[in-house]
Amino acid sequence: MDITGPRAPPPPSPAPLDLGDVTLQLGPGDNEGAAYDNFFSKEPPVIPAGVTEDTRASTAYSAATSGAITPGTAFPAYDTRFSLASTLSLINDCSIPTGVDGRRVVVVMGSGDFACALTARLSEANYNVIVASRDPQSRRQRVIAAGGTIMTYAEALQKSNLVVIAIPFQHVSSLPLDTLSNKILVDVSNRDPKKYDPADRSQAEHLQNLVPSARVVKAFNVLSAYTLARGTRGSKEVPVCSDDALARAVVCDVVRSLDLVPVDRGPLRNARLLEGIPLTFFPEWKFALIISLIIWIIAFAITFFKWQLCDNFRNAQETNGSFNWRSFDGIAKNDVSVSCAMTSVTLLALCYLPGEVPVPR
Ligand SMILES: NC(=O)c1ccc[n+]([C@@H]2O[C@H](COP(=O)([O-])OP(=O)(O)OC[C@H]3O[C@@H](n4cnc5c(N)ncnc54)[C@H](OP(=O)(O)O)[C@@H]3O)[C@@H](O)[C@H]2O)c1
Repeated sequence: MDITGPRAPPPPSPAPLDLGDVTLQLGPGDNEGAAYDNFFSKEPPVIPAGVTEDTRASTAYSAATSGAITPGTAFPAYDTRFSLASTLSLINDCSIPTGVDGRRVVVVMGSGDFACALTARLSEANYNVIVASRDPQSRRQRVIAAGGTIMTYAEALQKSNLVVIAIPFQHVSSLPLDTLSNKILVDVSNRDPKKYDPADRSQAEHLQNLVPSARVVKAFNVLSAYTLARGTRGSKEVPVCSDDALARAVVCDVVRSLDLVPVDRGPLRNARLLEGIPLTFFPEWKFALIISLIIWIIAFAITFFKWQLCDNFRNAQETNGSFNWRSFDGIAKNDVSVSCAMTSVTLLALCYLPGEVPVPR
């Protein structure tokens, strides 16, 4: 089949659209090929005199949305924040590096009680934990027993971008802060109960101020070293907060891998409340304690009335007013123990009977 031959004449060009500053050529025309050549060439498109980048982009964008496209000018200004390269670099900054053995590497600064307990728990969860210490030699045995490797600050901080700061907060400003830049810093510190005021700026926010390029995350402060070392028996919830959502997600993932339950508490400002949680003594037990105490007092009043008062009054009537003070000796032995037993049975009944007694219909 002969595919050569006279070329069909180009369709007639529509009249150019005059938009004031810019004249747009609509639809295909004789200059179509030239326009696309211009689009794919490295040369920037020609901007009419007197037209700024902004007016050009906005005019072209409105023309594009109305169906008219001038090649090379039809898209809004390119926003580098959403480029693939910047997204990949963000993910790279927040992903925990893996060592040669394939385990993810976490650096823990400090070799105290909390650092060793967390090291043991992370090692159990198959993390490669590197403890950064001021004096690696003297702490080596303790850290190795917990399953970690000990190094100097300079060596350890090259190994991972996830760093747990497990040293008392008053010493944080003496750390080599420039080596912490751009890392995810997990602040586990708690506040001094005597100075705690939820209105004050949190220690985590102070740390963020000290290292502005870091992604500071508050986590783990509600767990004690004892709880971490011996396995969590009480609540497994670990509140996590940070201004950086990606860093928060990374730390939540670490918390989850330790068989704990991360609770996303939003921005770093909430660390003001989190730093006060370990200082609150049994916050949710208050009501239960009051009820138990009331039941115990009632039980004690009953036993006291029966064994010390009733018996004595009866005795006094029968023996012409003599009062048996010796019956008071049994208060500690009889009244207190019986009151405790009565309280226990009553509380057990209060807990279990509502689930056992059928509801009448
Ligand atoms: N203990 C807990 O149950 C618990 C619970 C929740 C949160 N926390 C928090 O965890 C952090 C550590 O508590 P901890 O009980 O593990 O304390 P710790 O037993 O006293 O240990 C603190 C470690 O910090 C390092 N350190 C001490 N002084 C330092 C200084 N001047 N400069 C730099 N590093 C110093 C030392 O490690 P090197 O000698 O190896 O450098 C030391 O072993 C605190 O912020 C605390 O609030 C503790």
